[in-house]
Amino acid sequence: MSQTILEIKNLYVNYHTRQGDVKAVSNLNLTLDKGDKFGLVGESGSGKTTLANAILRMIKPPGYIPEGKINLDGTDVLSLSESDLRKFRSTSVAIVPQAAMNALNPVRRIGQQINDAFVDHGVKLSKSELNDRLAELMLTVGLRSEVPRLFPHELSGGMKQRVSIAMAVSLNPKLIIADEPTSALDVVVQRQVIDTLDQVQEKYGSTILLVGHDMGLMAQFSNRLGIMYAGELVEIGSSTEIFSKPNHPYTEILISSLPDTKTKRKLVGIPGLPPTLINPPTGCKFHPRCPKVFEPCSDLVPEKEIIDEKSFFFCHLSTINNGKVDKKIVGTK
Ligand SMILES: Nc1ncnc2c1ncn2[C@@H]1O[C@H](COP(=O)(O)OP(=O)(O)OP(=O)(O)O)[C@@H](O)[C@H]1O
Ligand SMILES: [Mg+2]
Repeated sequence: MSQTILEIKNLYVNYHTRQGDVKAVSNLNLTLDKGDKFGLVGESGSGKTTLANAILRMIKPPGYIPEGKINLDGTDVLSLSESDLRKFRSTSVAIVPQAAMNALNPVRRIGQQINDAFVDHGVKLSKSELNDRLAELMLTVGLRSEVPRLFPHELSGGMKQRVSIAMAVSLNPKLIIADEPTSALDVVVQRQVIDTLDQVQEKYGSTILLVGHDMGLMAQFSNRLGIMYAGELVEIGSSTEIFSKPNHPYTEILISSLPDTKTKRKLVGIPGLPPTLINPPTGCKFHPRCPKVFEPCSDLVPEKEIIDEKSFFFCHLSTINNGKVDKKIVGTK
């Protein structure tokens, strides 16, 4: 039996702005099982970091959470007291942040910075225990044993990113959120960082939520994928199912925009721009850009189409596929 580790229900996250509230996350539902390697994919501005921050209770003004529930390993995250939050962030959940390499303290050695996290969380280690722990962590993330004695400026971008993964796993959290850990790295190093996350998952049995917009890289790593568009999860499924049979036209376009060296098919870009989240489009938020748009899309919000317990999507096309709507009204834009 799989064990649920994270359960998000009807989550909304807004940002106050002078022009109105930005609805960065809307009515979002997501369940992750222990050991899941979940890839969260979506264009820039679709709300991925906002969702990650909400799970960590790191939404700061002008952001706020008007509604929703987040339960992580039995903890009701949104009602945690400030004093419990510190412990929660690192023993229950840890983040490898977007641009993590800039998050390292430039004037402290790597080993000292990792030790700071232990001390902060009341883990007291003798010098030799600390050295053993550091050696084990370096081995797990594929770094040389002398790295703890170095300063951040002595490391390459990929090495710094692995240090931030080592820091995230140092307290053995239940959930690790890696927010675009490979952006700004070349493709070879990207691959190595993803492999490192894989090794970490295997060794510690952690659940990993990997955020990114590179569908190819995400699919290599993840057993499940969630496709985010304009603050909503429009499709969730196993990576293999999503790749072999995407149900949402947006997912389909994301896949077609990937280069395929075997078939050399034509690359398809995503038409139009992501919508403003202050006044998002009515009906299905993707309808102004959707090549399969038809009558109900601009007015009606699509209902959840459940494929199985863990796979669903939101698209009116399913009503056609279920024979509820006449196929003739489907038009190409
Ligand atoms: N502090 C803020 N104030 C106002 N709007 C914000 C703030 N932070 C984020 N937003 C808006 O919320 C939406 C979601 O942003 P978010 O950073 O979560 O997107 P993302 O999917 O992580 O994008 P990227 O791939 O570029 O990192 C965007 O429209 C963004 O402009
Ligand atoms: Mg982001």
